Amino acid sequence: MSDDVIARLRQHGQEHVLRWWDELSAEDRLILSEQLQSVDLEELSLLYLRREEKGSLPEIERIAALPRPSQSAAEDQKHCELGERAFRAGQVAFLIVAGGLGSRLGFEHPKGMFPVGPVSRKTLFQIHAEKVLALSCRYDVQIPLLVMTSPATDAETQRYFDENDYFGLQPEDVFFFCQGTMPALDLATGKLLMESKGRLFLGPNGHGGTLTGLADSGSLDILDEAGIQTIFYFQVDNPLADLADIAFLGRHVAERCEVSSKVITKESPTDKLGNFVLVDGRCSMIEYSDLPEQLARKTDSEGRLLFWAGNPAIHLFDVQFLRSVTEEADGIPWHIARKKVPHLDEHGNRIEPAEENALKFERFIFDVLPRVVRWSVVATTRAREFEPLKNATGSESPETVRRALSNLTAEWLERAGVEVPRDAKGNAAVALEVSPLFALDAEELAAKVKGIKRIEKERYFV
Ligand code: UD1
Repeated sequence: MSDDVIARLRQHGQEHVLRWWDELSAEDRLILSEQLQSVDLEELSLLYLRREEKGSLPEIERIAALPRPSQSAAEDQKHCELGERAFRAGQVAFLIVAGGLGSRLGFEHPKGMFPVGPVSRKTLFQIHAEKVLALSCRYDVQIPLLVMTSPATDAETQRYFDENDYFGLQPEDVFFFCQGTMPALDLATGKLLMESKGRLFLGPNGHGGTLTGLADSGSLDILDEAGIQTIFYFQVDNPLADLADIAFLGRHVAERCEVSSKVITKESPTDKLGNFVLVDGRCSMIEYSDLPEQLARKTDSEGRLLFWAGNPAIHLFDVQFLRSVTEEADGIPWHIARKKVPHLDEHGNRIEPAEENALKFERFIFDVLPRVVRWSVVATTRAREFEPLKNATGSESPETVRRALSNLTAEWLERAGVEVPRDAKGNAAVALEVSPLFALDAEELAAKVKGIKRIEKERYFV
């Protein structure tokens, strides 16, 4: 261990991490040294001092509702043309954040490998990748797909794509990069927690890790060289994300935005969605758990929720803007969370805490928003674009995701004049699914289902 690291550990009261140094193999010593080299002890000490802070909510007078966007049909037409042109010119790449495991679903694999297709049982990754493939065929252009993994998902995700021939994409168009990690601190003492005698506990650094991950992996340079101007960002857990939305893209291009976001009109004040708001006139995000109830329940003169703008985590980022942000990513705040973290005690016994014992630190991608000067939002609905897979049962579970995919197919079919059986709650009465390679939107499906009058039973359009 270098003298410099030992001195820094002493200075910050963290020498305990070397307690088992003499017992470690040469390989473990190397790994622990590397971990310690990359940890910013100064920053961790400062974060520990902030542990009692209650979030970072601005004073209530500074928070205002996001105005509801309006748009004319003529503008929409212009935006569609611009969006299509940006795709055709090869200026767009997609980015999936996929650092999470499916543990909450009882699925100990990358969440993207969970089978959600209502009929096909295609996985989240396959559905997303096939949308990208369908778009690259539609516009006759190579479209890069970036997949942000974490140390927990990286190897298995890469193997999964490889074993499945990248779902038809060219392997050279698929880029994986692994997000960074952050140590956890003991809540009572501020000491670094050890996962084993030769390893610090390191957790993923949040989807804000996209910023440093993009820069550190060289992906931003690759995108720049390939002439990519816009990154279309979305979360692996939402198979409804509409990647083919040229009006969204075109508006972003027309208004030369640094960031554009899809916004879900909230159905109730307690919807579990981040809230787009204005803070001092700048676009910002306040998590549902932090938005004061008095604001969440406020209504406008038409009785609609004033704080209406939920976050489905679908954004367009200007590549040059991201570059400027990554050059000073240290300015993006850390969020501090109290969690249960298994670790070794000072005798080397493994502790599985029953209560929160640790502080973990994450950065959130939407914390770039307050830096944005030119931004736009496009409103959409949950039914059309958002049903994330989060839980094993109940809301946002495999059952609701499959139902949402069937309902979306039903809506597309009905718009094409096809009769679809509905149950008493208005849901599609049979499982329905469209392969992205068959149709990416209602118009494309309508052109291919001419002659079909009525759906009688489960159906997969492929
Ligand atoms: C998140 C958003 C919330 C939004 C909701 C929509 C936060 C704090 N909140 O909530 O505003 O309304 O999604 O579904 O993010 N991920 C990584 N690396 C990480 C952490 C997360 O890749 O270190 C990825 C996950 O794989 C997942 C996505 O980010 O695809 C969201 O993470 P999750 O923890 O499910 O977010 P939520 O708390 O549900």
